[in-house]
Amino acid sequence: MAASRVEPAQALLDWYRAMGVDEAIGEEPVNHFAAPASFDLKPGRTATTAGAKPRAKPLADDCSPEEAETLADLEQLAGQFEGCALKRTAKNLCFARGSDKARVMLIGEAPGRDEDLQGKPFVGRAGKLLDLMLASIGLTEDDVYITNTVYWRPPGNRTPTPLEIESCAPFLKRQIELLNPGIIVLLGNAAAKSMLGTSQGIMRLRGKWLVYESGERDIPVIATLHPAYLLRNPAEKRLSWRDMLMIKQALYKK
Ligand code: URA
Repeated sequence: MAASRVEPAQALLDWYRAMGVDEAIGEEPVNHFAAPASFDLKPGRTATTAGAKPRAKPLADDCSPEEAETLADLEQLAGQFEGCALKRTAKNLCFARGSDKARVMLIGEAPGRDEDLQGKPFVGRAGKLLDLMLASIGLTEDDVYITNTVYWRPPGNRTPTPLEIESCAPFLKRQIELLNPGIIVLLGNAAAKSMLGTSQGIMRLRGKWLVYESGERDIPVIATLHPAYLLRNPAEKRLSWRDMLMIKQALYKK
């Protein structure tokens, strides 16, 4: 194997080992490229209803994310948006990475230093771990669309304030409508709380299918631990592995 492919493969094995995966199971091979699964989330089965609508804040008349017809248009509008104070201290807009056709949308907290420099979400250490977590269930950057609750780096990597999150929420709401993903994965406390409209913490919210109400459609949503938290608390990778398996099962169920 070429050296450039050995390192990620080794890192993926290390991730499996850290999560306690010590054997390959399953008699049948899994087709990771199978047609999209239909999500059978009848109330009372695997989903509960969450008040998961980002609360909209009035925007300037000349900035209407709901009128954007494509994700590219929306990104351009976000670049012109002056309603989030974080923009003043950030170097770059950090809107999204991945595929505009992805079935899986991931929403993190906020860009960090590397993301601010490169203008893309999750490209630093936490992003590398996130990529491994996704690879562990057969997903690459082509299968996912990654964004954050805010599009600019908070100074000193602090948690974005509720007001900062609210100011970007109309964009995020439209981003979800335009992508129309099969499932949404919320990474960490800030994303889970703001998107699910609850004060409950991530340890209570993680690992269960909920519903995000997007226009006419209910989208299955699951919260999991933030990869940056996993870097600081590697023992918790076991919990995140369970969540990844739930995501895998939802994606590949027949
Ligand atoms: N942490 C996040 O929540 N988002 C990023 O883009 C990077 C780190």
